[in-house]
Amino acid sequence: MEVPRRDAAAGEWRAPSTAGNRKKIARRPGNRKGPAERPGEERGKAAKAAGKQRKAAAAGAKPGYGEQPGEARKRVREPRKSRKATPVCRMFHDITLSHEMKILITGAAGFIGYHLCRRLLDEGHQITGIDSLNDYYDVRLKLARLAELGIDAPTDDTPQLRSSRTAPMRFAQMHIEDVAVLEGLFAAERFDRVIHLAAQAGVRYSLENPIAYASSNVLGFVNLLECCRKQGVGHVLYASSSSVYGGNTKVPFAENDPVNHPVSLYAATKRSDELIAEVYARLYALPLTGLRFFTVYGPWGRPDMAPMLFTRSILAGKPIRVFNHGDMRRDFTYIDDIVEGVVRLLDQVPSGAIPTELFNIGHGSPMELMEFIHTLERALGRTAQLDLQPMQPGDVPCTWADTTHLQERIHFQPRVTLAEGIGRFAAWYLSDKNPLKN
Ligand SMILES: NC(=O)c1ccc[n+]([C@@H]2O[C@H](COP(=O)([O-])OP(=O)(O)OC[C@H]3O[C@@H](n4cnc5c(N)ncnc54)[C@H](O)[C@@H]3O)[C@@H](O)[C@H]2O)c1
Repeated sequence: MEVPRRDAAAGEWRAPSTAGNRKKIARRPGNRKGPAERPGEERGKAAKAAGKQRKAAAAGAKPGYGEQPGEARKRVREPRKSRKATPVCRMFHDITLSHEMKILITGAAGFIGYHLCRRLLDEGHQITGIDSLNDYYDVRLKLARLAELGIDAPTDDTPQLRSSRTAPMRFAQMHIEDVAVLEGLFAAERFDRVIHLAAQAGVRYSLENPIAYASSNVLGFVNLLECCRKQGVGHVLYASSSSVYGGNTKVPFAENDPVNHPVSLYAATKRSDELIAEVYARLYALPLTGLRFFTVYGPWGRPDMAPMLFTRSILAGKPIRVFNHGDMRRDFTYIDDIVEGVVRLLDQVPSGAIPTELFNIGHGSPMELMEFIHTLERALGRTAQLDLQPMQPGDVPCTWADTTHLQERIHFQPRVTLAEGIGRFAAWYLSDKNPLKN
């Protein structure tokens, strides 16, 4: 199947050229293109074997996983023209990765997944996205995000890979718990990087539907890691959460703080993921980076989180529920800062005997909830009615990221101010892009 690419000068998508790129990727340290390597196994041999496999695949050009019959993938082997990434949606990009990669993003129709897809497509990478499109929140928002990426709404729930109309991206609706389907995807596709975001998110919902958390966040994660280690993926980045810090009172939260007392099942599954990741790094030398995100907000955000919940109620003239009587602090982090951090970490492949690392990605300055509400009021030009409530079970009074490790490793500190970020969020919310506006 031919995958289009963006021609910066013409401003449109053109046929791909991947051969030169593939050679570069194979040479990169930590990038394991061949069958799963054991520690100490020679990288060069694996790369050669992978090269042979790719040649054979190209000669046969059989239809790939989930492709329509007759839609055989073409391997275009002309040399790659150097091309500057062209921004589609970015407000600022600090770095452009020097090589193009084939990247699997799970949870691609989700809030963070959608933004990452856009950014990485801008950078010239080939994206395969998967998502179950579950109805934890309004599916129209997930479908609208996919539409922005040129992906039509699936007409049935078969795990069929569909090509974007506008970008070098393919998408399949699938559950990561479905091990056979996931293995089928990995049997047909090789990935240089995997960014794992699919999860049952939300702290409060874990009190209502605990099974969804165990299933997506633990079983689904192990299924994915099994596929990654068998294929020898060069680097797996996975979403953890600031919620692993539970009710820790030492602030700011640092990666080496004790995190043995989660206060919600959601947090417990995210901490479990970190421990499981360490085991895969230890036993199989699979490079794994855990991303502890702090309260992410911005355009296309989640309807179950404060910015969307509050905005909807404020505009409808309804009271907003303010927990712990407003005595809460959150380290609100703008989506572009999250994306920048993840993109910079893509090539920071952990090494050593146990190749795994954890990073806080948060703004690094907690905001009083009431200050957040006033900022939102100013952006919307409306006053909120407050319904003051006690603390909710599973919630924590404060989150605050220590970003020293992130700054040391990737020289980046999230920096979009709340006023700027909320302004951009409000503009999107009120625009016709927002399918949930009315
Ligand atoms: N948004 C935040 O503030 C925040 C904070 C900390 C951690 N995180 C983590 O970051 C990741 C992305 O969060 P988000 O805010 O984009 O959430 P999101 O709910 O918008 O995106 C997650 C996506 O994963 C999909 N999904 C869920 N279970 C699945 C399964 N079993 N198989 C396949 N797909 C499945 C959902 O349909 C959804 O589209 C999650 O792992 C979340 O726990 C988010």
